[in-house]
Amino acid sequence: MKKYLNYIDGEWSESSSGKYVEILNPANGEVLGEVTQSTKEDVDRAVQAAKKAQKEWRLVPAPERAEFLYKVAFLLKERKEKIAQVLTSEMGKVIEEARGEVQEAIDMAFYMAGEGRRQFGDTVPSELRNKFAMSVRIPVGVAGLITPWNFPIAIASWKSLPALVTGNAVVWKPATETPMTAYEFAKIYEEAGLPKGLLNLVNGSGSVVGNAIVEHPDIDLISFTGSNEVGSAINARAGELLKRTSLEMGGKNAVTVLADADLDLAVDSILWGAFGTSGQRCTATSRIIVHQYVKAELEQKLVDRIGELTLGDGADESVKVGPVINRSALEKIHDFVQIGQREGARLLAGGHIVSEIGLDGGNFYAPTIFTDVTPEMRIAKEEIFGPVVSIISVNSLEEAIEINNNVEFGLSSSIFTADVNRAFQAMRDLDTGIVYINAGTTGAEIHLPFGGTKGTGNGHRDSGVAALDVYTEWKSVYIDYSGKLQRAQIDNN
Ligand code: UN1
Repeated sequence: MKKYLNYIDGEWSESSSGKYVEILNPANGEVLGEVTQSTKEDVDRAVQAAKKAQKEWRLVPAPERAEFLYKVAFLLKERKEKIAQVLTSEMGKVIEEARGEVQEAIDMAFYMAGEGRRQFGDTVPSELRNKFAMSVRIPVGVAGLITPWNFPIAIASWKSLPALVTGNAVVWKPATETPMTAYEFAKIYEEAGLPKGLLNLVNGSGSVVGNAIVEHPDIDLISFTGSNEVGSAINARAGELLKRTSLEMGGKNAVTVLADADLDLAVDSILWGAFGTSGQRCTATSRIIVHQYVKAELEQKLVDRIGELTLGDGADESVKVGPVINRSALEKIHDFVQIGQREGARLLAGGHIVSEIGLDGGNFYAPTIFTDVTPEMRIAKEEIFGPVVSIISVNSLEEAIEINNNVEFGLSSSIFTADVNRAFQAMRDLDTGIVYINAGTTGAEIHLPFGGTKGTGNGHRDSGVAALDVYTEWKSVYIDYSGKLQRAQIDNN
């Protein structure tokens, strides 16, 4: 059976624990391989290697660092199909989406390589004569990255590429469910010739490896994407340790459909946003806020179209919706559906675990639509992270905005309307980090900041130029060439 190892200080090695866990294909339960389960000592070895490598890396001119990123970009491009297949096999998303995800990593690699020649600071006039003032970005040091299984290469690229191009070293813990994609990515860094010790891959559980990353005194910052429960525990501990954290967590994203909307377009976007990746995106559409005038028509169109969503192994090109990640996710989704029914929501479609022959070996949940949902119901407030969407009806744009905003999360929102005034009002008043007009809640592009407000994050952003803020400190530099003591705020007044 293929064993997946750690990559520490430029060497592939197994953990001293000798323990492995199996990697399963969520579409059929097939064992794909096994992955080493690291210890605190493995993390320490990775951190020591990173710390040492970073001392030299910070002195490498950023455009030269970027050349490694260009190599990574071209290798990802060359291997797009292979990585997509690996990704689908262990994570379950349909192959077309897996290709799209690898493309997102390719885009990020080219974009961040470009940052090798930017990373702009400011020069500003000094308040004194013969004095020069500027601010420059400097690396933070060693970045601890903890990445999720739902976008195993895209999110790892969002974090590792800006960390490296700005002069940091990386210790990376991928999700336990998706070590094969992590292996493919680390292998590409190795093949690109990235100096050893700069990118360390340490596989294992959150409770051991994740914890060791948070606790390690030589890890200077932590970038985490995952659940609110884990993110808030990381943040609490990092607060005590005075470490920087960048957190990207849950969502309860809504599509608002006004009475003047193009309903067919809204339906296309809802089906894609709610059921693509089997609803396992932070950006997935999990609420539909619809004007009561068009509610019945929208419901009918959704019901008419839901049959198009053929379930199956994502490796099959004709399949539209793959499995969810594992058994416990399947059960959690079903629990939510039962909660919704008890709360009085009405099922329009789905609502059950799929057990038909051929799919019974995998973790399949039927695409599910609830209607007559009210904003106080748990299914309207909590993140389900599965193929379940809830319809809530409203009487006005103002009411829609209020319901959209009145949840604990703030990642993505969307509105369908033909009225430019309403579109602009929504753009201003929807309180999420990402807003779409006449497009669904998913589909963020890598050169814009990605992240959310309120319970979704802690003010930082992945991707876009904003990502540089996570991985750099500002250094303000004053050069006095007057040859005499000049006291700021005193000698100029
Ligand atoms: C995520 O679900 O955490 O906008 C990332 C999107 C993708 C990224 C999703 N480009 O849906």
